[in-house]
Order: sequence, then structure tokens, then C-alpha cells
Amino acid sequence: MAQEDVFKKLVSHCKEYGFVFPSSDIYDGLGAVYDYGQMGVELKNNIKQYWWQSMVLLHENIVGIDSAIFMHPTIWKASGHVDAFNDPLIDNRDSKKRYRADVLIEDQLAKYDDKINKEVAKAAKRFGEAFDEAQFRSTNGRVLEHQAKRDALHERFAKALNDNNLDELRQIILDEEIVCPISGTKNWTEVRQFNLMFKTFQGVTEDAKNTVYLRPETAQGIFTNFVNTQRTTRRKLPFGVCQIGKSFRNEITPGNFIFRVREFEQMELEFFCKPGTDLEWFQYWRTFCHNWLLGIGLKDENLRLRDHDPEELCFYSKATTDFEFLFPFGWGELWGVADRTDYDLTQHQNTSGVKMVYREGEGKDMVEYVPYVIEPSLGVERSVLAVLCDAYDEEVVGQDKKGNDDVRVVLHFHPALAPFKAAILPLSKKDVLAGPAMELYNELSKEFMVDYDETGSIGKRYRREDEIGTPFCITVDFDTVGDEAKGIAADNCVTVRDRDTMEQVRMPISELKSYIESKIEF
Ligand code: GAP
Repeated sequence: MAQEDVFKKLVSHCKEYGFVFPSSDIYDGLGAVYDYGQMGVELKNNIKQYWWQSMVLLHENIVGIDSAIFMHPTIWKASGHVDAFNDPLIDNRDSKKRYRADVLIEDQLAKYDDKINKEVAKAAKRFGEAFDEAQFRSTNGRVLEHQAKRDALHERFAKALNDNNLDELRQIILDEEIVCPISGTKNWTEVRQFNLMFKTFQGVTEDAKNTVYLRPETAQGIFTNFVNTQRTTRRKLPFGVCQIGKSFRNEITPGNFIFRVREFEQMELEFFCKPGTDLEWFQYWRTFCHNWLLGIGLKDENLRLRDHDPEELCFYSKATTDFEFLFPFGWGELWGVADRTDYDLTQHQNTSGVKMVYREGEGKDMVEYVPYVIEPSLGVERSVLAVLCDAYDEEVVGQDKKGNDDVRVVLHFHPALAPFKAAILPLSKKDVLAGPAMELYNELSKEFMVDYDETGSIGKRYRREDEIGTPFCITVDFDTVGDEAKGIAADNCVTVRDRDTMEQVRMPISELKSYIESKIEF
């Protein structure tokens, strides 16, 4: 099945099973804003909880905070967001569609990469085992031609971005003969800068003095609380402060479902360290993030680390690595790890007049300096989407009576992320089974999120649980409860069916809790 179709199915599955709904659905939705349903909120909370525990519980030198969304507007001036948090916009006059000029050029770069990769794939097929990819890439005429064009474009693009040269961005689009995907024409407007922050007003007067912004990142709430946190925790360097919270960006080209949205959550850590040790910590956090993503069950082959070229780095960053995930629509950034140097603390120190320093040593040996910062910043929505994409599967498990494939749709979540850990399914709705099944449900619900379902055939109920990714279905049957009248003793056992293998084991009820606990550990 084409990846596009897989993605469409996943999006409709999310709506159908209560993971993600378009926001304001009954009013035809609101562009690039989504709501989480009863399944989605559990999945999202489980991801956030695992992240928080990995940071705050497992690192004695990391604490968490929860700062406000509204902040003093000067913060965004100091951080550079008022002047530089812009996207270059271009419109096509014929389709009236608006694009990010940089994205149009990035897509063009990707086209050159595709051409090169196609040549390599063709040659690999032709030469079989004897194929030497490195040699082919460095000697094949067509590959070298595409590569030279790509490199020249990349260099020109990076320079235009660096110089903030909007005319040059437009000229690149014209020279590369990039057309609007809707109208197919090259009838482009000038390129303009567009600030991504949402503005509103505090108080009753709507004027510039009262402008406040919806924060576009949670990080600034951590930087501006640096002094408060360091003083009250009395932490020595290196130490980190993390938070999970909403961020807002007026994205010009949102899309790909919850990948790029206007209201989203970030899980950000600002790890403060001594200047000179920053690159070491940068490596530490790169490795940590990679392991964390594997820990939530993402497949390594769907992950890649992309180091930013020097000319691509943000103005505040010394080194940046993006963790990219292979979504059905292509590779996309999931987690950015950046060495933000002392940029933010210095900016806030200069703007507010408050010293943002760390004091090391005692008495006359004491030195003070502005710490450096390593920032791993992960989007909740993108994590949810990556987990859903990796988990979604359609398996042919047999044939129906007419000879058609019997397809099982299943979400293979890591059990710890699954919205429900188990489902209690009495074999019959009758009180004799429903009563004890409900008792078991009440007991296990004290420990885990558990579903209860007594309607439909057991096969249908298994499928419903597969579709929402419940790792264990627990069937209460007549052997479980016995029959006193007939002198048949209860065996106090249940059948546990595994979502992934579909295997069933008989197990004493008394062992269920520890069995599930052992399976839902990360
Ligand atoms: N404090 C650094 C920062 O905000 P970023 O690369 O702009 O860096 C960090 O954002 C992460 O936030 C991204 O890797 C992505 O996971 C998530 N993110 C950013 N913009 C987003 C959007 N419009 N929709 C969903 N997630 C987004």
C-alpha cells in the first residue's frame, strides 16, 4: 500500500477510535488545531509521564517547573523572537496559495537527493552483491552532475538565509523554475517576512503597550527563572530544568495532520553547564535522546540523526542535531538537541539588568560566569504521531468464507504507552460471569487503565481492543467461576490473550497484577 494511503488510513483511524479529532469539528474544524479524544489523551499522558520520569526521577540534577504561557513582552524582544522568529513567505498569484519560500527550496534540494538515490538504487539492482555504493557515488557522471547542482543550490540558499536576503530567495525560486504545486505556474510574488508569534492584548486597551504574546516555546520560561531555580534548589552545575507545556506558532504551512500545528505541547530541558564542557554534554544528550526514542518502542530504522551544517545553525546555536523520524510523508524533525551557548541568559542579563550568573568557589577564589545551555526539545504531538505511525499495522490473519483476506488492524504500542493496559471480557453477559468480571475490573482499575467490554462475540471484542492497542485481553469464563450447583469448583484462572502474538495463556487471577506490571515496564 502506498505510504500516502497508509497515512490517510491512520488519520481516519485516529478519529474513528477516539485518538485525535479535528478541533471545532461541528463547525468544520479550525485550521491546524486538533483535540485529543479519550484514547489520545491517555497515549499523550503516558508519553509525557515517561519523559518527565526520565528527566526528573532518573536525574538527581534535574528539576521541573511549570511557567506561565503569558510572559513579559520584553522577554520576546530579548530572546530574538520579535525580530527574528520569522518565516519567509511567498504567494503564487494564480492559485492564491501561500508558501514558505525556504520550504519550496528545501523541497527542490530533496528532489536532487531523490534523483541521486534513484540512480544508486538502479545501480545496486544491476550490480547486485558486487555493488560498491561509495565508489558509484563518487564516480558516476549523472550522480556527480545532480550532486554538483544540489551543492551549488545549497550554498546559495544557506547564504541567502544567513544574509536574510529575501530577493535572493525569490531569485533562487525563479532560477530553479520551481512551480506552484496547485496552479503549476511560476507567477510568484515578492518574499516577505512573517512573524510566527500570536499576539493579543492584556487588559482593556488594545494598543502596542499592552501587547502580549502566546509563547512560541517553553524554553524562555526556564531561562527567565534561572536565578529563582538555582537559588531555591541550591544545585551545582551541571544541572537541568525541564518543563512540559503548550506553545503556539502561527505556522504558514501547517499540515501533515498533527505534525505541524498552531497549538502544540513541548517537552523541553535546559541543561546548564560550565562553558567548555558544553560539547561533552551535547554528546551525552544526543545519546540519551536516541535511547529514549528506542525506549518508547520506535524502530531504529525509522530514526536518523541529522547534524546541522554550520551555515544552517540558528543564530544562538553552536551545534544542533535533529532527530528525524520517517513518517509516511517522509523524514520530519521530531526532537532537536541544540547547544544554545550562553546566548539566552546573556540576553536576559543585558536586557533585564539582573545577573544571570553561576558562582563557583568561595571567598577570593570565587569566579562567576554565565552558564552554557544544552537544550533537547521534543514536541508532544510529533511524538504521538511517530508512535502511532510505528504502531499502526494491518495484518492478514486468514481468509473469510468468500475467500477475501481477513485483515486485522492493530496498534502495536509499547504496553507502557497503550491507553488501556488490559481489557476484561466476560465470555457471557450473564450475571454469573459479568459479576466476577466487574469485580476483577474494579480490582485492576486501582492499578492500571483497564477497559471492560461485554458486547459482541469474543472475536469481535479482541479486534476492537487490537484497534486501540490494548496489549492484554482477559477473558472470564465458566471455568473461572465454576458451578456450585453441579459441584464444579472455580479454577480462579482467566485466559490472557496477547495482542501481538495473539497467543493465549491460562493464568491464576492472583498473578494478573504482577504479570501486567512486568510487561508494562519500559
Ligand atoms: N526551544 C527550541 C525550540 O522550540 P524548535 O525546533 O522550534 O525548537 C522544538 O521546536 C520541537 O517542537 C520540534 O522538534 C517539534 O517536535 C516541536 N514543534 C515545533 N513546532 C511545531 C509545530 N508547529 N507543531 C508541532 N510540533 C512542533
